[in-house]
Amino acid sequence: MDILIFSPDGKTAAYETGLAEHLPQASIRGWQPGDTAPADYLVLWKPNAQVLQPRERLKAIFNLGAGVDAVLGTRGEDAQRLPAGVPLVRLEDAGMADQMAQYVSAAALRYFRRLDEFDAQQTQGQWKFQKPNRLADFPVAVLGYGTLGAHVAKALKSFGFPVRAWRRSPRSDDSGITLHHGEAGFDACVSGARILVNLLPLTPQTVNVLNAGLFAKLAHGAFLINVARGAHLVEDDLLAALDSGQMAAATLDVFRTEPLPTDHPFWRAPRLTLTPHISALTLRDETVAQIAGKIAALERGESITGIVDPARGY
Ligand code: GLV
Repeated sequence: MDILIFSPDGKTAAYETGLAEHLPQASIRGWQPGDTAPADYLVLWKPNAQVLQPRERLKAIFNLGAGVDAVLGTRGEDAQRLPAGVPLVRLEDAGMADQMAQYVSAAALRYFRRLDEFDAQQTQGQWKFQKPNRLADFPVAVLGYGTLGAHVAKALKSFGFPVRAWRRSPRSDDSGITLHHGEAGFDACVSGARILVNLLPLTPQTVNVLNAGLFAKLAHGAFLINVARGAHLVEDDLLAALDSGQMAAATLDVFRTEPLPTDHPFWRAPRLTLTPHISALTLRDETVAQIAGKIAALERGESITGIVDPARGY
C-alpha cells in the first residue's frame, strides 16, 4: 500500500514517521514536484492542483484539518478539482475540539468578566469596581454545531451562558442547548445574542455570512469570536460596526489573507484581539492515529466516518 503525503511547506517527514509506526507494511513518501505516480491514499493540507490530479489506485484523500475548503476550492481557487469518485475525509476532533473550547471560552469569559476593562484600568493605575455582567444578559449564539461547534457550545454552557446554536440540518441532543436549523432558524439563533461564535464550514453559502446585516440582529454592543475562516467575515462591516458601537469587540483567529498583512487595518483597530490561526492546531500524534486507523479500516473493507459531501462542502 502506498501513502503519499503533501504539505505546502514540504515538511512531511514527521507525518511519514508517525504513519509508518502505525502502518509498518505501508510504503510512505512525501510529495515532490512532478510526482504523479500511483498511490492508495493521499494525506494532505492545502494541496496544489498537481497533487490532486487523478492518480492510479487512489482510494481516499485525508485532509490534515477539519475544514476542507482549501481542497474543494471553495474560494474559487480551482473549483471541482477533486478526483471523481474518491472520498475526501476530514479530521474529526483529533484534539481540536478541546483546543477550540478553551480558546472560545477564554475569549467569552474575558468579555463577560470585563477583563479588557480591568486591563485598561491597570494601565492607568486605577482600582475601580465594575458592575458585574449577568449571565442572563449574555446569550451566546454558536454558528455551526458539528463536532467542534457542539463541544464549544457545551463548554460555554458549563459556565452558565444561555447558549443557542445553529446548524444547517436538524439535530437534537440532551445538551440543554437551544438548537436551531435551516434558513428559517437562523434569525432566531442570532437575534439579541451578546456573543456570536463562528464555527461554520466555509462553503459558497457561508462566505461573507458575518456581515452588517447579521451584526444588526445581535444585541447592541455584541462580541464576535471567529475561529472558522477569514472569508466568513466582511472585514469593512466589522470595522464599521466597531466604530458605531453595534459591536463592542471581536476576537479573530482567522483572516482572509494569512499571515495578516502588516498594513492591514485590523492591526490598528481598537478592541480587536488577533491571533495567528492557532485556536485549534492539528496535533500530529492524534491526527496520525486517526488517519492510520481509518486507512486500516478501509483496507479491511469497513466503512469510516468523516467523509465529506463535496456538494455540501463539509
Ligand atoms: C484548521 O483551520 C482546520 O481546518 O483544521
